[in-house]
Amino acid sequence: MGFANKVVLLSGAGSGIGEATAIAFAKTSAILSIFDKNETVHAVGETCKKYNNKIITSTTDVTSDEDLKGLVEKTVEEFGRIDVLVNCAGSYYSGKITDEHFMDTNERCMKVNFRSAVLLTHLTVPHLIKTKGNIVNVTSVSSKLITPGWLPYDVSKAALSRFTACAALDLAADHVRINAVQPGGTQTNLLVNSGYFKADDNHKVWKNFAKKTPLGRIIHPEEVADLILYLASEKARSITGEEFAIDAGLLAKGYVPQK
Ligand SMILES: NC(=O)c1ccc[n+]([C@@H]2O[C@H](COP(=O)([O-])OP(=O)(O)OC[C@H]3O[C@@H](n4cnc5c(N)ncnc54)[C@H](O)[C@@H]3O)[C@@H](O)[C@H]2O)c1
Repeated sequence: MGFANKVVLLSGAGSGIGEATAIAFAKTSAILSIFDKNETVHAVGETCKKYNNKIITSTTDVTSDEDLKGLVEKTVEEFGRIDVLVNCAGSYYSGKITDEHFMDTNERCMKVNFRSAVLLTHLTVPHLIKTKGNIVNVTSVSSKLITPGWLPYDVSKAALSRFTACAALDLAADHVRINAVQPGGTQTNLLVNSGYFKADDNHKVWKNFAKKTPLGRIIHPEEVADLILYLASEKARSITGEEFAIDAGLLAKGYVPQK
């Protein structure tokens, strides 16, 4: 898939699916502007440089409107254009509506997982219209499933899923596509980074989760990256407003979560 001379702006590139996506784009000679709230993004940038030197790495939090505005401006100043936006940054947040601090958790979750993607879309659209570019959002099987205790996360991903379809209609006349990938359990540090599991338990958690899927597979971040690159490529030129599950069959089975 050819991304030579295409400029890709990617959030959440410091770890997991975002890291794998940054490296996969770099291997196709894409020009990259990658960022994360975590300093690890700079090490990912060093790996990407083995394939392509044209890269900016930034430590930016997606909840800062000013920083996101600055990042889009910096990307265009440096590379002159934006062809692809990938909204990958995200965190897991649990909570029930009866929780004392539910509103704080919910607000934080919506800001990180949903509002940031909307704002980045709004800020990059003028540039994407010029290049007839496209956007890929990273939702989750949680956008379809309802899991007890997952209210904020499920709702944030459902909102991002619906936003993908709504924005696709707004942008179609300008030949800008917007799609989403919907991963199931993917072996990353999501639940460790979000503070829900200790690093030592991580592999065990994903292994147990894999057993619940029809294919019995742990999904690897590189597999999700492949799907993101496909949707961002010319091969997907007739696809917009869609969300594609990569979940080892979880949604087909109708996953019944444990309480
Ligand atoms: N791993 C899974 O099973 C799974 C399943 C479905 C969806 N997802 C989604 O995939 C995306 C990537 O997650 P992952 O599994 O690679 O986890 P991860 O924790 O490895 O990567 C997420 C990255 O987002 C960054 N991030 C979080 N909050 C941020 C903020 N406020 N500003 C900037 N960066 C921030 C983190 O620092 C981290 O580097 C997320 O949106 C997640 O919800 C993951």
